[in-house]
Amino acid sequence: MVDGLLSHPPLPQELRTQGLAPLPCNLYGRERVDLSGTWQFLVDSVERGLRNQYPRYTIPKDEKQAPVGGPLVEYDWDSAPDITVPGDWNTQSNERLFWYEGLGWYRRRFPAPPTSGDRRYFLYFEAANYRAHVYLNGSPLGVHEGGFTPFAFEVTDKLVSDNSLVVGVNNRRQYGNVPGSDADWFNYGGITRPVWLVSTPPTFIQHAVVTLRDAETGPIITCTVTLDGRDAADTPVTLRIPELAIELDATTGADGRATIELPAPRHLERWSPETPRLYPIVLSTAEDTIADRIGFRTIATRGHDVLLNGRSIYLRGISIHEERLGTREDDGGRRLDWDDSRRLLTEARALGCNFVRLAHYPHSEKTTRLCDELGLLVWSEIPVYQEDIAYDDPHTLEVARQMLAEIITRDQNRASVVVWSVANETPLTEPRLRFLRTLIADARAQDSTRLISAALNRSIASTLTEIVIDDPLGADLDLLAYNTYAGWYGPLAPGDITSITWRSIYDKPMILSEFGTDAKFGVHGVREARWTEEYQRWFYEQTIHNANTVPWIRGLSPWILKDFRSPRRYRTDYQNYWNRKGLISETGQRKLAWQVLHDFYQHQADAPAAR
Ligand code: GCU
Repeated sequence: MVDGLLSHPPLPQELRTQGLAPLPCNLYGRERVDLSGTWQFLVDSVERGLRNQYPRYTIPKDEKQAPVGGPLVEYDWDSAPDITVPGDWNTQSNERLFWYEGLGWYRRRFPAPPTSGDRRYFLYFEAANYRAHVYLNGSPLGVHEGGFTPFAFEVTDKLVSDNSLVVGVNNRRQYGNVPGSDADWFNYGGITRPVWLVSTPPTFIQHAVVTLRDAETGPIITCTVTLDGRDAADTPVTLRIPELAIELDATTGADGRATIELPAPRHLERWSPETPRLYPIVLSTAEDTIADRIGFRTIATRGHDVLLNGRSIYLRGISIHEERLGTREDDGGRRLDWDDSRRLLTEARALGCNFVRLAHYPHSEKTTRLCDELGLLVWSEIPVYQEDIAYDDPHTLEVARQMLAEIITRDQNRASVVVWSVANETPLTEPRLRFLRTLIADARAQDSTRLISAALNRSIASTLTEIVIDDPLGADLDLLAYNTYAGWYGPLAPGDITSITWRSIYDKPMILSEFGTDAKFGVHGVREARWTEEYQRWFYEQTIHNANTVPWIRGLSPWILKDFRSPRRYRTDYQNYWNRKGLISETGQRKLAWQVLHDFYQHQADAPAAR
């Protein structure tokens, strides 16, 4: 147990019922009502709302005149403060809730959906950090754990003319959660991404995956479809890709699934950062039609190479936290709308990136869809973060497995996503190895088309000047990744970095998934002075030069694009609860090191055609 942190009270038994529905795929291509906007909000730091199940009791209309001795209800939604959804509560409410960590209750009323008939309805949450207890019209729908992945509850038979949706979100950090109780990013709490009322036909296309693979006979397009509903079995499904003149049918089996497979047309233009070609596709049954835009590409490794569409590629990356690029210092927050995501990714493109490491948790669907459009390869990661994870706790493993399944389900059709990462900087212990190997097996079973990785930073045989990649987990990964801070943490200075040698016991490609130093924008001095922009530039020059001497280092995702809020960064002179390793400040001011990485990527991009 981590001292000083309350453990969650045991939930009433019925709240353990997950109640989660299979996620309706392709959210943005579906009929849906946006429940974003002004909700009501109540802080419940003593969590009585859970124990006493307050949200189950609607306030009697005439409660103010309730007879003496009647039920005493000590809260009132109609007079509760407003809050905006989506959005963390920390950066709303005039800072009153900036450091709040605990349970908060949201309430939103919404009318019955306009159409009647035999439609089905789902409450679809894109994310709520960290644990969400969802009630509709006083009845519990269920609980979702995990702060960065979508979840849904079917409410078809639970809607009335005037609906009361009550959501208790608890962002209290706790050993046993994923992440645990100590992470180097700000614990933004609340309904941080949009909420939708999604409508589908009685039998709908619940999940569909369209992939390209290079077979012996040539490239093959495969589309697997899963229907949900009373007529899921023995139902015709049609795949159309108009720009490729493809229209093919299949019929689902008894399990409601169908597979359509065909040779890829010779003129198919593959997706890549240089040509992020997306093809409109339409999947339909007699009842349901969904449209999406798909990029066709392959990703693999061979020896020391990462192969995109069969050609070796160097990953010119940068790490990014999901935090708004502010227009003024106190503007950052977890709510990112399309423009916010685009601003961050445009900064990555300006650096010359073809790759972004979306750290340390799944970012919004907006971001991965924009990466499809902008031509940015994506490293997608679940927050199995450092040593503060209960690697021997079955519930913790269940949560991590669920998170991984949820993000793979959501993003399986995003061509930009090429890596599923199961961890960051995890200890060399047997429980950790078992935990991560379970996740890797899950990822491979659900999606055999992408690379599996994890950011490592432990070694058995390393010395101060020889880094040996010998973490046993490396045997299970396709792409190795290593976080190095030699020259910032530890006794070495940036001037010592070029004396570092690298050795790997694996015949696999590796990226430097993190390196960086703190530098507050505008702090200048001699390069030997920590916290200055000059020190950060010197560190980048030395680290990039050193990495470039290693033929099996096939990419970088330095730490980090933008300064970000963190509870671990206390110095009032330089940090003030900001991690200053960004190449740009929290308002986008570019530091001296920015040019070093930009110029290196320009050189890489101009390098002779890949091997
Ligand atoms: C670690 C960790 C990051 C952290 C960084 C730092 O490598 O992966 O989450 O922010 O180092 O110390 O700044």
